[in-house]
Amino acid sequence: ARRLQAGSSSKKGNVLNTLPFYWIKPPAGLTDWHCALAGLFHFSIVTDILLEAYVSAQAPRLSYNPCFPTARAWFTMPQASSPIGVFDSGVGGLSVLRALLAALPHERFVYLADSANAPYGERGDAFVAARTHAITRYLREQHDIKALVVACNTATAAAIHEVRSSHPDLLLVGLEPAIKSALAVTKTGHVGVIGTRGTLTSAKFGKLMASLADQAHFVVQPCDGLAHAIERSVALPVAPASYPVESTETGALCKRYVNAMGAFGTAPGEMDTLVLGCTHYIFVAHELRTLVGPDVQFIETGEPVARQTKRLLDAAGLLQTGGAADGNLSEAGTDATPSALLLTTGPVAMMEAAAQRWLNLPAEHCRSVSVR
Ligand code: DGL
Repeated sequence: ARRLQAGSSSKKGNVLNTLPFYWIKPPAGLTDWHCALAGLFHFSIVTDILLEAYVSAQAPRLSYNPCFPTARAWFTMPQASSPIGVFDSGVGGLSVLRALLAALPHERFVYLADSANAPYGERGDAFVAARTHAITRYLREQHDIKALVVACNTATAAAIHEVRSSHPDLLLVGLEPAIKSALAVTKTGHVGVIGTRGTLTSAKFGKLMASLADQAHFVVQPCDGLAHAIERSVALPVAPASYPVESTETGALCKRYVNAMGAFGTAPGEMDTLVLGCTHYIFVAHELRTLVGPDVQFIETGEPVARQTKRLLDAAGLLQTGGAADGNLSEAGTDATPSALLLTTGPVAMMEAAAQRWLNLPAEHCRSVSVR
């Protein structure tokens, strides 16, 4: 009480009396409100130190960086003009970026393909989770992203919950095979699902399946090697449509897996719907179509994810609504050219070929980076 007395100014009912932690006599010239603000700041820093120490001790992997969260929040407040991060194990997520660019023409995007470590599908959860954490940190620290779209079913299944808890202030959109949407489309009640082994054997997907299992008959087929073959095919010339489907590596894999699933078609007992549970697979839509026939519906996630991203940004007041995007990505921002910077941990020539082929974007949009 004596200290409090000493710290207060001569005025009665001074605001300093209400701040038990502020007991040093304030220097002359400071007003009560200066002192009150300083006290609150001091208080939050102390809380920060304790919280940070607790989090680091309990779960070092969850700790985003060693800064104090309050100070961090002050300096990393998301801005509407910041870019949206999009990431995948490789070039497959460009199918999602394509939908995002169409739905959000005024936004800036930074896409990261972890092609040096692709494919994720057969790598195991621990590896995929570690890469997802490293890439999220990289995109936040280097590009100050306001939202992250994990354009990879495998990374979503392995790590989205952890990323959500270590980055609670980041808008996060994940992907999962759209089997719920398939239910609204199928007439035969028989639905095929293709994806990576990582996704289709994950607890997350198992739970989703279990919740819908009584509403349709699902045939689930992991396609080992298909995403990797699609990555490699980017650098090859496109095979003429008249060639037999099995004449390419991707076509041969598609044939093997489609044949293993059973009959596709619209007759009773046949699968009339095919869920593409990996973002790479839309790039072999031609091969799949040749194999399953013209009447089977493909369900993919690009457009719904773009709509969801738009909804979340809007609700958070972070949506860019008009005019050229702000910011200074040199690749970006004219009405004619989409604002996308395409980064890859793999060979940049592969990203350049994919950007040209699937997004009609020139090589200037692409860069090689290293993410540890
Ligand atoms: N494109 C990814 C997905 O949606 C992963 C493919 C892979 O790297 O195996 O699951």
